[in-house]
Amino acid sequence: QEADKRARLLEINKEAAKYFYMLLRGERGARALSYFRKRELSDETMQKFGLGYSDQYSDDLYRYLRKKGYEDDILKESGLVSIDERRGGYDKFWNRAMFPIMDVHNKVIGFGGRVMGDGEPKYLNSPETKIFDKSRNLYGLNFARSTKKPQLLLCEGYMDVIALHQAGFDNAVASLGTALTSGHANLLKRYTKNVYLTYDSDGAGVKAALRAIPILKEVGITTKVINMKPYKDPDEFIKALGAEEYQKRIDTAENSFMFEIRILEQQYDMHDPESKTKFYNAVAEKLCTFGEKLERDNYIAAVADKYMIGIEDLRRLVNQYGAKIG
Ligand code: CTP
Ligand code: MN
Ligand code: MN
Ligand code: MN
Ligand code: MN
Repeated sequence: QEADKRARLLEINKEAAKYFYMLLRGERGARALSYFRKRELSDETMQKFGLGYSDQYSDDLYRYLRKKGYEDDILKESGLVSIDERRGGYDKFWNRAMFPIMDVHNKVIGFGGRVMGDGEPKYLNSPETKIFDKSRNLYGLNFARSTKKPQLLLCEGYMDVIALHQAGFDNAVASLGTALTSGHANLLKRYTKNVYLTYDSDGAGVKAALRAIPILKEVGITTKVINMKPYKDPDEFIKALGAEEYQKRIDTAENSFMFEIRILEQQYDMHDPESKTKFYNAVAEKLCTFGEKLERDNYIAAVADKYMIGIEDLRRLVNQYGAKIG
């Protein structure tokens, strides 16, 4: 019964993906097609990611799926349509550029839809359903799982993943309009022990990185942070500077602990001795979290080197915070 329902929901999403895909290439899809082209996506890329278009009619998908034999109850449960007592069924996605979301088995489980131009919300996503658990799926993982690269690139958005894959970085994935969860971390762990964060360079992106690092660390993943500055995100970076420059950013990605303390430092006035001392104390306390003595020593050396302070002085401070010998 339950398995049957899941199968029906997968069928509905697949039918919808095919429908949106067809609309993009039809007469009414011209604006969406030129939107994707303006964003420098090749036909091959659009095909690979199954991009589509949901048109301006408010109930065409609903009617299409009804004609295929799906009843109101199951259509409602798919999240693709709503059933209004008076109006009847109508589509959730209306005049948007469509990004089908696939699970690792290439099954469409939901959609993201972007307004073409300005408008709110910028992205509209399928709600969670029996087949769509946002905290256990990553956009692009169906492709990235077979990469030969030594790490996975974790970014914020659909367009970042697509632009990275188009530029040859077939190891890019993104969480789906939600913050990274331990469900995501456990999923990532099945495929790699090395994750490079390539989040947006704005304040929200930095905050998201600070939240993601301990979640990844918790499951034993080693994290590095890629700097996108002066561009906003990987999509814009690659458009401006290209794949070679992006590869250089991968090669020079920052150790996540060094990233964390560099951001922490911004809360202190390093020209004021008292504030500076407080910062070193905060860092010493953080250094205690490395239970393994050798690892802790390596970090103590790295921090001492970066801030040009004595290794022994820093070690003494760390020991005051009760570092356990691991
Ligand atoms: N997002 C969302 N709902 C929104 C805004 C964002 O679900 N209203 C999710 C989308 O998955 C989006 C990601 O968060 O891709 C990152 O958001 P943002 O940086 O604002 O968008 P971009 O991916 O950069 O989108 P674009 O380049 O198309 O402007
Ligand atoms: Mn429609
Ligand atoms: Mn952002
Ligand atoms: Mn963007
Ligand atoms: Mn962005």
